[in-house]
Order: sequence, then structure tokens, then C-alpha cells
Amino acid sequence: MSNIEKTLSIIKPDAVERNLIDEIKKIFLKNDLNIKESKKIHITKDEAAEFYKVHQSKPFYNDLCAYLSSGPIVVMVLEGNNAVAANRKIMGATNPKDADKNTIRKLYGISIDKNSVHGSDSSENAKKEIDFFFKN
Ligand code: CMP
Repeated sequence: MSNIEKTLSIIKPDAVERNLIDEIKKIFLKNDLNIKESKKIHITKDEAAEFYKVHQSKPFYNDLCAYLSSGPIVVMVLEGNNAVAANRKIMGATNPKDADKNTIRKLYGISIDKNSVHGSDSSENAKKEIDFFFKN
């Protein structure tokens, strides 16, 4: 049975800086994730802190927020069958060195911080994250 849903994807500063936007978008499209919305933005550290607030107790939180706000990013709404899980499979493990062959993070990730992409981890968070960037 099909389960068409939406998820939020971010192309992070390390990948935007290396001109990987089109390459990464092609991977989504090839895997039947349609790009319903896309915009290139540069967020503030406070906005990054709000976006990543689920991680606020983690030791890497401050660096994470500084990094996401360090340069332009591309935020996208992807839509497809089981889009949340499909996107996470295409991205690969958080740490590029643990990611499966041909995943985005294996192909392009530099480190656990500069891991090229973010994707929502559940349908519930996908709704919140999409609203964060695309609610007017
Ligand atoms: P992302 O999927 O965007 O979600 C939170 C980010 O925190 C994660 O990708 C990593 O880039 C970053 N991060 C940095 N250190 C860690 C860590 N030790 N464990 C998990 N995520 C980390």
C-alpha cells in the first residue's frame, strides 16, 4: 500500500559551498522523491538553535548551530512513498564513515559535522520542520 508523505531535507553549508546542489537533487529525483519546494537561504545562529533545539542538551549543540548558520543552505520539501524513511536511506548514516556505499553522506560527507545533508527523522518531526521553513 502506498504511503505518500513529505519530509524536510537540508543541503548543508559544506555541500552548497562545493556546488553539490544539483548532484544531490538528482539523487532525490532518481529515487522517486519529488522536490515540492526548494529555497536557498542563510539562517542566523538563533534560527539554527531553534531548528535544532531537540539537540540542546548535546555537547555538540553549539558547534552544530554555528555550523548550520555559517553559510547558505538549501531547504527542500521532498514528497514520495514513505518519504521520511526513503530519504534517510538515501542520506546514509549520520557519520559519513559509517554510511553505506552510494548514499549522499558516503559520496559527499566530510565528517560527522559536515555531513552534507539533514533529513527529518519521523513523520511528526517532518511536519514541524517543514512548518519551520515554509510556513509563510
Ligand atoms: P543531522 O541529521 O543534521 O542532525 C543533527 C546533526 O548533529 C547531525 O546531522 C550531525 O551533523 C551533527 N552531529 C555532530 N556531532 C554529532 C554526534 N556525536 N552524534 C550525532 N550527530 C552529531
